[in-house]
Amino acid sequence: MASDYILGTRDAELQRLRFQHELWRPQAEAAWSRAGLRRGMRVLDLGAGPGFAACELAQRVGSSGRVLALERSPRYVEAGRDEAERLKLPQLELRQHNLLNDPWPEERFDLAWCRWLAMFLSNLEPLLEGLDQCIAPGGQVLFHEYVHWDTFGLHPHGSAIERFGAACQRSFRETGGDPDVNRRLPSLLAARGWRIEALQPLPVLGAQGSMAAQWMERFVRVYGEQLQQLGIWSEADHGQALQEIAQAAHDPGSFWVGPTVMELRATRLQP
Ligand SMILES: C[S@@+](CC[C@H](N)C(=O)[O-])C[C@H]1O[C@@H](n2cnc3c(N)ncnc32)[C@H](O)[C@@H]1O
Repeated sequence: MASDYILGTRDAELQRLRFQHELWRPQAEAAWSRAGLRRGMRVLDLGAGPGFAACELAQRVGSSGRVLALERSPRYVEAGRDEAERLKLPQLELRQHNLLNDPWPEERFDLAWCRWLAMFLSNLEPLLEGLDQCIAPGGQVLFHEYVHWDTFGLHPHGSAIERFGAACQRSFRETGGDPDVNRRLPSLLAARGWRIEALQPLPVLGAQGSMAAQWMERFVRVYGEQLQQLGIWSEADHGQALQEIAQAAHDPGSFWVGPTVMELRATRLQP
């Protein structure tokens, strides 16, 4: 079924998201703890993908809690529902929902979790309005979104990878997104009366063979193909990027740096 998600929803991308979640799980879990996530809470997961984080959130809130995961891709929603059923998590509901156009739920939540979603939105207003509507006063929103994409690179010999990073950023911007959206979110929330509780960088760096390195190599392989379909990355470019990855495998001193994520946590005050 068609999906507008620029990274695609093919199996390779679903598996990439699974691996990505594994890599970033410790940071997510630590962030949830800092936000005071506990049993019985009601959590909203925005742009939940195939529900990897949503399943864990559902385990953390337990059977007395509730997690509503909103996701545009029907394929991801279906995959997440299968997983929730397999893990016996009736407290988790995955709902197909376009956060830009569909009316937001009438329900109130204690916490909203939003990871790598805002960067794809062509308009942040529906997200901000939706949060005002769905988060109860005293409730929080937790974003893990990029703040500095330019840090992405393979060192010391990654000139094609550097061009690839620039092509990625271009693709996000050309489809209306903003790779560094977290530069804007704190002041947009503050202007709507939210109290900013925490801003913290979550850098990622990985030597050859590390999970972080594998994550970035996989991103180049999967997204490189997608970028070619979009016409902003050629077969020759892709070949050069893959060559640099192969070359780096022979240099035990080579390493990857990821685009820098920032954690943003804010509390909704009494309107
Ligand atoms: C990079 S994935 C992140 C998935 C998940 N949040 C995670 O951290 O693993 C971005 C997700 O946002 C979804 N998405 C993008 N635009 C959306 C929209 N307008 N409404 C709902 N979901 C959207 C995509 O379909 C995709 O599943």
